[in-house]
Amino acid sequence: MQQVLVTGGAGFIGSNFVHHLIAATDARVIVLDKMTYAASPAALEGLPADRFRLVVGDVADAGTVGPLVAELTGPDDAVVHFAAESHNDNSLRDPSPFIQTNIVGTFVLLEAVRAHDVRLHHVSTDEVYGDLELDDPARFTETTPYQPSSPYSASKAGADHLVRAWVRSFGVRATLSNCSNNYGPWQHIEKFIPRQITNVLAGTRPRLYGAGANVRDWIHTEDHSSAVRTILERGQIGQTYLIGADGERSNLEVVRLILQLLGRDPDDFDHVTDRAGHDLRYAIDSSRLRAELGWSPAYTDFEAGLAATIDWYREHRDWWEPAKEAVEAGYAARGQ
Ligand code: NAD
Ligand code: DAU
Repeated sequence: MQQVLVTGGAGFIGSNFVHHLIAATDARVIVLDKMTYAASPAALEGLPADRFRLVVGDVADAGTVGPLVAELTGPDDAVVHFAAESHNDNSLRDPSPFIQTNIVGTFVLLEAVRAHDVRLHHVSTDEVYGDLELDDPARFTETTPYQPSSPYSASKAGADHLVRAWVRSFGVRATLSNCSNNYGPWQHIEKFIPRQITNVLAGTRPRLYGAGANVRDWIHTEDHSSAVRTILERGQIGQTYLIGADGERSNLEVVRLILQLLGRDPDDFDHVTDRAGHDLRYAIDSSRLRAELGWSPAYTDFEAGLAATIDWYREHRDWWEPAKEAVEAGYAARGQ
């Protein structure tokens, strides 16, 4: 039976991927997660005990990572590397955990998969490419030069470079993917869409950075999971695949849609202090993944996906409510 070690598998996208893998394959899954503030133990409840194991530990700790990777002895066994500090705003306040987890953690993992000759899939972000003008006809492709803007995106870019160097210099069997903005269940309420949904549900107003003209290319996290599984199964070693679902929307459009779906006046939000160095637009051209590996997204109706996500947050108040006050206090301290 195939074994897959999923780092960061208690986070938003990692936990969705674990459920996806358990449902779509007969793989046995080991999650390695440090259980930071961003982890959700509840997201891993109900998984079959004979196919799932949680190891609490740091991906940057070679003493933890080495023995786990050494367990992966089957020909199809693999590591899928999601573990990261993931929020840009946090990286502006304190970059150090981003360097430690995203760069040093990836280095430690690479050394382990090199030592034990284990297949790796490295999960990265479209933010490594910097940003685009609003009217730029081009979108990001696998050959777009790296130009990260924030400590977060620079740390992810650093990790990507390490993975490619380990492929070329040491023959590590790795693939990479760079995905656009995810939305869906279990996303931490520090992030844009859950923050605005839970603001409205909590009776406060959504908060839009600056004018809200910034564009993000939204993809449902389930589509990210199916893309990563596709790459794991059929991707070419050494190759990078961009993952996106043609979901470009301005932040202003998204806030207005959330308000509308919640039965509120679409203008019932506040403009707040903009993010320092705020990237203007991300847009993914996922042609390679679609043409070479036959992947396509299932969630092509953003409004329907957003409505389902709103329902999910409505039904999971017990999960997000305890964190809400502290998250909002942190934002308020920065005028956001
Ligand atoms: P998240 O912050 O929700 O989850 C990250 C998980 O990693 C948490 O469970 C956390 O406890 C764990 N973690 C953090 N530091 C760790 C460490 N040192 N050792 C072990 N575990 C650790 O993040 P997410 O949004 O689910 O993102 C997952 C991955 O996908 C990241 O690599 C991110 O860069 C990438 N990504 C995210 C998006 C997005 O829109 N959220 C888009 C593209 C790529
Ligand atoms: O593009 C992929 C990236 O998407 C991932 O690599 C990151 O891990 C993930 O966090 C996300 O980064 P963003 O910075 O784009 O996401 P965030 O949810 O923080 O913000 C989305 C947009 O909304 C961005 O333009 C900033 C804006 N924003 C954010 C918050 C939290 C607001 O206008 N108001 C807010 O309150």
